[in-house]
Amino acid sequence: MFEITPLEAPFGAEVRGWEPGRRLSEGEAEILRSSLREHVLLLLRGHPPPSDEEFARLGENFGELFAGGELYGLESKSRDVLRVSNALDSEGYEEGYAGSGYLPWHSDYSFRARAAKETLLEAVILPTNGPRTHFVNTYLAYDDLDAELRERIQGLVGRHDPLASARHVPARSGENAQEYGERMHPNADLPYKGDAPPHPLVHPHPESGRIALYVSTFVGRIDTLPDDEASALVDTLLSHAIRPERTYSHEWQQGDLIVFDDIGIIHSRDDFDRDTTRSMRQMSTQMPG
Ligand SMILES: [Fe+2]
Repeated sequence: MFEITPLEAPFGAEVRGWEPGRRLSEGEAEILRSSLREHVLLLLRGHPPPSDEEFARLGENFGELFAGGELYGLESKSRDVLRVSNALDSEGYEEGYAGSGYLPWHSDYSFRARAAKETLLEAVILPTNGPRTHFVNTYLAYDDLDAELRERIQGLVGRHDPLASARHVPARSGENAQEYGERMHPNADLPYKGDAPPHPLVHPHPESGRIALYVSTFVGRIDTLPDDEASALVDTLLSHAIRPERTYSHEWQQGDLIVFDDIGIIHSRDDFDRDTTRSMRQMSTQMPG
């Protein structure tokens, strides 16, 4: 059975006792789901390393898995699991996608109509002094909005496009955008072409109904607002959201597996030395269709 201990952080809990080789009972699965609703982020630690299949079986307890392994049209060991790694593949490109560098505040797959509902992220290979991943609780961010701002964003709809995050990304140390692009696989089929999908800024979770501030660096436009006003509003809301009192910065240990609510959390990753190897496995459930 699980041992669940709140983190010394504004939210989140550590979970010990997961046995990847054994299917969870319905009661155990419900404990994890209700703990996630309560704590918004679960850090599973101290368990044996799961296979891709065992990892996917854990994810299925939370919702319908998204075929993240196939997202970029590249060869993948698993339909469900995306390698987020800067280890090189047999052709000399980074395995998976976006495995190196700084990642700005985002919710996974918000560039899809069916964005991620939960994400599971596991540390497989870590550099010493590797990058932290930062998590912000956007339920708390919504709760703490002043009345005027809360009124102003009611009913607004953001358009989510990862390319819109460029204005939030500081120049990568010692590398320009072209060099960065050259390390990415040239055959990757980037899944964010065409119209950026709409998502409400005031976003209730589909199961709990709890309201999150669904804003990230991917919001390039807001329907009904001129672009300069939209950018200014995104900046105001983001700087409000990412205050330390609602941020948890995770220092990864090998084997850590974090499950987080992708409606109630935005996350970012520090930049790191690209001559060191960092490999993660990532998997997401998706919002109801
Ligand atoms: Fe992410």
